[in-house]
Amino acid sequence: MAIKHYLQISDFTLDEYAYVIERARLIKDRFKRYEPYHPLMDRTLVMVFEKNSTRTRLSFEAGMHQLGGAAIYLNTRDSQLGRGEPVEDAGQVISRMCDVIMIRTFGQDIIERFAAHSRVPVINGLTNEHHPCQILADIFTYIEHRGAIAGKTVAWIGDANNMLYSWLQAAHIFGFHLNVSTPKGYDLDPSLVAADNHHYTLFSNPADACVDADLVNTDVWTSMGYEAENAARLKAFDGWIVDAAKMARARPDALFMHCLPAHRGEEVAAEVIDGPQSVVWDEAENRLHVQKALLEYLVLGRL
Ligand code: CP
Ligand code: NVA
Repeated sequence: MAIKHYLQISDFTLDEYAYVIERARLIKDRFKRYEPYHPLMDRTLVMVFEKNSTRTRLSFEAGMHQLGGAAIYLNTRDSQLGRGEPVEDAGQVISRMCDVIMIRTFGQDIIERFAAHSRVPVINGLTNEHHPCQILADIFTYIEHRGAIAGKTVAWIGDANNMLYSWLQAAHIFGFHLNVSTPKGYDLDPSLVAADNHHYTLFSNPADACVDADLVNTDVWTSMGYEAENAARLKAFDGWIVDAAKMARARPDALFMHCLPAHRGEEVAAEVIDGPQSVVWDEAENRLHVQKALLEYLVLGRL
């Protein structure tokens, strides 16, 4: 049987998302009631990090323990990955010793090559092009606060990065619309968006992209791996801060999300991220619950 990987949002159907989201809800409820739930007893997750992380590591490691399994952390610094062992060989070896693998790396091609040589499911914990686990948590968070996301408008204000490309895939699957505003020179790369995805509109003015939005979303202006461009980006993104004036253009009940870590005073004003419309802490917590559902689904299938 073909192994199921989760390398980008488009790897699951709407029906699979409905299942995983419902499982996440049940798993979260149980966790909140301190009810032990150990479906992954004696199973092992290997986590490979080629970039820094707080939330992704913590949520996968804690989540795997809470499901009764174990999690092993590897990074480029002190494993053979940092000394040029081919990713195909790493995929072969690591996947013979565990039940599921999570990788955070640079190019999407790296995780795809790894997965092609893996005997077990591989989960994308962030690449330059995608961050599907975060968008899964974001959609779960939206549903918790406001109900179904189909038919809603999500504003993306900022960089055309991994988060945006995952949001775009999600818009296509879940049936919502994205208003995208990126500064000149940092535009969306159409080759990373499916040709039949018409679920987005481009805006040159970020305030216009916020008009009537149900959810306003931003992220750092300089993603991991692009640090050399930081000074140029600070200049180019001037005006793209999500502040109270931009939130005022959105619907009165609009939510604000940011995958974190955030830079107050750059991409988001403190008054917004620390204000009443912000759900960033729920969003961070929900990484734990949705990824537990994801691990359960990828390792055990539908229960
Ligand atoms: N949002 C997110 O993925 O955070 P970390 O980089 O801390 O894992
Ligand atoms: N776009 C950011 C997300 C961090 C969680 C990055 O790739 O650094």
